[in-house]
Amino acid sequence: MKIKLVVTHPRQDSLTFAVMNRFIEGLKENHHEIDILDLYHDGFDPLYSVEDERDWQNPSKQHAPVIRKELDRVLAADAIVFIFPVWWYNVPSMLKAYLDKVWNMGLLNKANSKKALWIALAGGTEASFHKYDYYNMISNYLNNGIAGYAGLQESRVEFLYETISESKTHIEGLLEQAYQIGRHYK
Ligand SMILES: Cc1cc2nc3c(=O)[nH]c(=O)nc-3n(C[C@H](O)[C@H](O)[C@H](O)COP(=O)(O)O)c2cc1C
Repeated sequence: MKIKLVVTHPRQDSLTFAVMNRFIEGLKENHHEIDILDLYHDGFDPLYSVEDERDWQNPSKQHAPVIRKELDRVLAADAIVFIFPVWWYNVPSMLKAYLDKVWNMGLLNKANSKKALWIALAGGTEASFHKYDYYNMISNYLNNGIAGYAGLQESRVEFLYETISESKTHIEGLLEQAYQIGRHYK
């Protein structure tokens, strides 16, 4: 598969990047083609401008070439994978800005053979995500509110919990989880 991977973290030595690298190692077992967009380090401009606004009366409105190019990268992929830390039970604002600017341009009906995978790193425990319904809240938002609305055929969320744990064994377990998700992704 052609996989478009969008990673969001200000630090390339973060756990989020380590998870991405292990996930890619898993993907490579099945020889997928990977196109990475590193929102922070590739200089994605998160400021939403008038130029980015969708014109509902004019679907062929010309958007900034850099945004058009990013949409084309999505359209060229079979699957879009997002890797990010959960911030305030949501995606980081940088990723939200990417969705606002690029996905806003009308993926609808052009994305129905594509799928999405969201790999979300959470400081909280799995028990707390279920107790307060964050698991369903975030999954529903990402799978239906974003991927479903954009017209993607399928979407799922994988949570990696307790990312701020000081236990080396626990962190190694999360990296192994990322590797296995990549290895079995199809
Ligand atoms: C601004 C901010 C908001 C956060 N909000 C949440 C949250 O709502 N739920 C949660 O479980 N963890 C939350 N965390 C913890 C992060 O998910 C955690 O720091 C991250 O997964 C660790 O990965 P990293 O080392 O790659 O940043 C938050 C962290 C920050 C910095």
